[in-house]
Amino acid sequence: MKNTKFSQIDEDATCSELTYQDFEPHDYKEYPKIFSRNDFLRQVRRTVNGVPVSQEDIDRIVSSIDINLDLCAEDRVLDIGCGNGHLSSPLYSKVKRWVGFDSSEYLISVATEFYGVEERVEFITQSVDQLGESVSAYEESSKVLCYGVLAYLTQSEVARVLDQISNCLKSVERIYIGNIPDRDLINFFDPNYKVDPLCERSQIGRWWTSNEIKEVAKSNGNWEVDFIKMPEEFYASKYRFDVLLRRKI
Ligand SMILES: C[S@@+](CC[C@H](N)C(=O)[O-])C[C@H]1O[C@@H](n2cnc3c(N)ncnc32)[C@H](O)[C@@H]1O
Repeated sequence: MKNTKFSQIDEDATCSELTYQDFEPHDYKEYPKIFSRNDFLRQVRRTVNGVPVSQEDIDRIVSSIDINLDLCAEDRVLDIGCGNGHLSSPLYSKVKRWVGFDSSEYLISVATEFYGVEERVEFITQSVDQLGESVSAYEESSKVLCYGVLAYLTQSEVARVLDQISNCLKSVERIYIGNIPDRDLINFFDPNYKVDPLCERSQIGRWWTSNEIKEVAKSNGNWEVDFIKMPEEFYASKYRFDVLLRRKI
C-alpha cells in the first residue's frame, strides 16, 4: 500500500481522472487542454486527486524561490520549463525582466494570454535541447529558475544546461532548481514504487539523489551547492527537495 500521508499528491499522477490514461505519462502538450484555460494548477498536474495543491503550498514555493534567488529590481530571470507561468507570476513585478520558456506550445499560449501582458515578461516555446542555439538571447540573465522540470530531463540534458549557463550565461549568479524527487526517500512516497525511478519519461519523472546533484553541479561549472528544506507542512517535504546553486567567485 502506498503511504498516502506523504504520497497523495503525486499519486494523483498515477490514478487520477479517467482521461489521464489517454495521454503519455509525461505529456504536457495535449493533456493540459482537457482543463479550462484558467485552470492553471491542474494543467501542470500539481493536483491531489483532481484537487489543486493548497494556496499555502503555492505561497511556500513562491516565497522559497524569492528568498533563495534573492530577487531584486535589477534582476533578469530565465525561467526554464515555466509551464503556464502561474507559479512564478507573483514574482514578475519584483524584477526588471522575466523570460520563461517551455516545450509545451499550449502552456506557453496560456502563459502569454494571462501573464504576458507586461512588457517585462515574455514566454517562448522552446525545449531545453534548443538552449544552445538560443543562448545568446538570454545572456543578460542574472538568475535562473527551473521548478518541477528537472525530473523530466535526462542526466546529460541537465549536465548540458548547467554547462551552457556556466559558460555562456556568465551573468547568472544563482540557479534555483525545485521539486526534485529524492531517490533516497522514495520509500516515503511509496515503499512498493513499481515505476523505474531513473525514467525521466514517467509520470513523476527521474528520481535524483542529492549526491548526483552535487556531482553534476561540480562537473559543469563552479557552483556552491545548497539544499533547501521546505517546511514540514509542505505537501512533498518528505520525498522531494530543492537546490540552490550559487556561482563561486
Ligand atoms: C510540472 S510542470 C512545471 C511547470 C512550472 N515550472 C511550474 O512549476 O508550474 C513541468 C514543465 O516542464 C516542461 N518540460 C518538460 N520537459 C521539457 C523540456 N525538455 N524543455 C522545456 N520544458 C520542458 C513541461 O512542458 C512542463 O510545463
